[in-house]
Amino acid sequence: MNTPKRYLITAALPYANGLKHIGHLAGAYLPADIYVRYLKAQKRDVVFVCGSDEHGTAIPIQATKEGTTAQAIIDKYHPIIEQNFKDLGIEFDIYHRTSDPLHHETASAFFKDLEAKGDLETKTSEQYFDEATSTFLADRYIKGTCPNCSHPEAYGDQCEKCGKSLSPEELINPVSTLSGQAPIKKETTHWYLPLNKHEDFLRQWILNDHAKDWRAAVVGQCKSWIDGGLLPRAVTRDLDWGVKVPLASGAGKVLYVWFDAPIGYISATKQWALNNGKDWTPYWNDKETKLVHFIGKDNIVFHCIIFPIILKAHGGYILPSNVPANSFLNLEGEKLSTSRNWAIWLHEYLEDFKGQEDSLRYVLCATAPESKDTDFTWKDFQARNNNELVAIFGNFINRVIVLTNKYWDGIVPPQNDLEDYDKEVLEKLKEFPEKIGSSIEKFRFREALQELIGLARLGNKYLADTEPWKLKKINEKRTETIIHISLQIAASLSILSHPFLPFSSKKLKDMLNLNDVNWDDAKNYNLCIGKQINKAELLFSKIEDETIEKQIKKLK
Ligand code: 2FM
Ligand code: ZN
Repeated sequence: MNTPKRYLITAALPYANGLKHIGHLAGAYLPADIYVRYLKAQKRDVVFVCGSDEHGTAIPIQATKEGTTAQAIIDKYHPIIEQNFKDLGIEFDIYHRTSDPLHHETASAFFKDLEAKGDLETKTSEQYFDEATSTFLADRYIKGTCPNCSHPEAYGDQCEKCGKSLSPEELINPVSTLSGQAPIKKETTHWYLPLNKHEDFLRQWILNDHAKDWRAAVVGQCKSWIDGGLLPRAVTRDLDWGVKVPLASGAGKVLYVWFDAPIGYISATKQWALNNGKDWTPYWNDKETKLVHFIGKDNIVFHCIIFPIILKAHGGYILPSNVPANSFLNLEGEKLSTSRNWAIWLHEYLEDFKGQEDSLRYVLCATAPESKDTDFTWKDFQARNNNELVAIFGNFINRVIVLTNKYWDGIVPPQNDLEDYDKEVLEKLKEFPEKIGSSIEKFRFREALQELIGLARLGNKYLADTEPWKLKKINEKRTETIIHISLQIAASLSILSHPFLPFSSKKLKDMLNLNDVNWDDAKNYNLCIGKQINKAELLFSKIEDETIEKQIKKLK
């Protein structure tokens, strides 16, 4: 496949209505960041956009809970979420906000364009209305029993227990979350996006063109939406929080959050271009751009069906090349839940495990829910950190750096005559950038990480087999060669670990005095003989039982 001219990578815009946990990180932000870091290490032209989703009923509902305004809620959570991502090494090119006027303009323009072209329909129907507060009950303002799993607290847009998308009409015994009363029905007019009119396009584009290169679970979910019969979907709401409907007849109404949020990727790109003196248009209009949306599986319908229909109806925009949605991460065998506080919060992890950000990145990537739901347990986290990062990767690096400092005061020794075993190891080393890169390009991040640990294993085995510490006094030249080759493996590890473990990769590069390296340099890093390296620093530290017990206790 030809290398795309440029990439526009998006990670789902998180709602700025509360703090984020490891499920969010594992679902979209970590895989997106790994992908982007790899592309950038390849010197490709990439823009990575994200930002806060600041509309929808989730925001004013949280405001009521906290006894404040919707504006205060987004102003409180937006910077915290942004900082937590930064501290975990998630390096967006821009972290925008959908409350920004640039976004309101962009989303309004899309709505007006579709409306003017006749791509939207209006319909008057009866919807739930809370008489006590004189409010139409959109989405999360209405709760009831889920018709699918009988969960008594399902929302009007989705059941958080079974994940099913719902409409308020489907709820059994609906009640208003504002007054707690049973709602009445009242007439209201809304704009609808007729998904049904785009069925042929969707069948061709997803079920045919992308049947092989998109994840099976993504294609499967799209197929069941399409086969289940697509219906016109309301894209406006009776609410006073959001992007105002830009038509005189739309007074008092706003755009549905799922109409404006994905357009947020476009406004974020525009803002990035403004900040950097660039042109945003080729990133969205040129067919040679590869657009990839990283999301969790609950967002599939919006990114694979609704947003592409909006883009296509508007015209002039590219469609996503891939939407590598992840399944869900569970915690200690149970579904992560914000309301039940069954979660590992990012801000708490950052406080409790200072300097161990890469450990979380490592474990979440190693257990990523790429094809099915997976489970995070504290014991597994400890085992992977101690047995893989510390005992394999860290141990290898420490031995090589310590030996170089001990034997030659940190000066890189020459590579003398090669034995067959050395040649074999160097041949294997050459294959890693390609192998890891190809897994990343296929969105198989777990597989790529396993390869990376395979390289550290190779280094460890090479040292264990050649035992340079036994040879130093008898055969100086042979010892030099072994350490030279081991340093070369260490250099490759510093380059190839960058997407997954950016903090440790940087530390290791600093130890080796390596800068400005490309991905392919890892094939055969040209180590300067006679160059000074630095003292060994601990890359990873062991996590004790006590620390883990404390975390388990905290959960319960
Ligand atoms: O599920 C969510 O958290 C949504 N806020 C994701 C929005 S993604 C995009 F469309 F903006
Ligand atoms: Zn349910």
